[in-house]
Amino acid sequence: MIKVAPSILSADFAVLGAETEDVRRAGADLLHVDVMDGMFVPNISLGVPVIKSLRKATEMFLDVHLMIEQPVRYVEEFCKAGADLVNVHVESDSEENLLRAIGLAKAQGKKTGVTLKPKTPAEAVKPYLGLVDLILIMTVEPGFGGQSFMHDMLPKIRAVKALVDACAPGTDIEVDGGIDASTAPLVTAAGANVLVAGSAVFGKADRAAAIRAIRENAVG
Ligand code: DX5
Ligand code: ZN
Repeated sequence: MIKVAPSILSADFAVLGAETEDVRRAGADLLHVDVMDGMFVPNISLGVPVIKSLRKATEMFLDVHLMIEQPVRYVEEFCKAGADLVNVHVESDSEENLLRAIGLAKAQGKKTGVTLKPKTPAEAVKPYLGLVDLILIMTVEPGFGGQSFMHDMLPKIRAVKALVDACAPGTDIEVDGGIDASTAPLVTAAGANVLVAGSAVFGKADRAAAIRAIRENAVG
């Protein structure tokens, strides 16, 4: 089943609780929370205190996308703050430290994911297959909302799907960046089943119609 995950990066941060409730009512399956440190990506967004507040405001599943250097330093704090799933970038630290980060999140009873930047090949997920619940494939360079979908990521989605089917069936495949009603059919046909959408949901006045359009155009 396809899941739609609005990214709060495109929400109005002054009224984040209301924005979250709005997309929940509009049919969102989970909430995608983008954490940026100004080092791993050239932008700063939000951190632990915001996730703590969000946790009090909603029961929605919080999918936390850590775009930070050496996430092992902060994983436990994000878990304690209320993340339900923690995504770490494979480029953000050594394999050993990332495996430690994943272990720390699992020890807190959380789900885990590994994320690939556009230039990182599909094979980079291999050390983590079977350990994580989800693979997140970036379909734009991480850092900003509202960028155009990179069509040349479609072969990578297919390659990750083949690896998942062979080695860790049932692992979710999430895509992030430039996802809307027109790109949803492409990524889902390639194998993605969790679709992050920032501007295509929060940027629209009618969020229910926006989520419906993505879901209806998705394949599967
Ligand atoms: C980008 C973030 C995305 C971003 C997507 O670095 O990881 O989650 O919010 O925004 P759209 O859907 O507008 O491309
Ligand atoms: Zn994201």
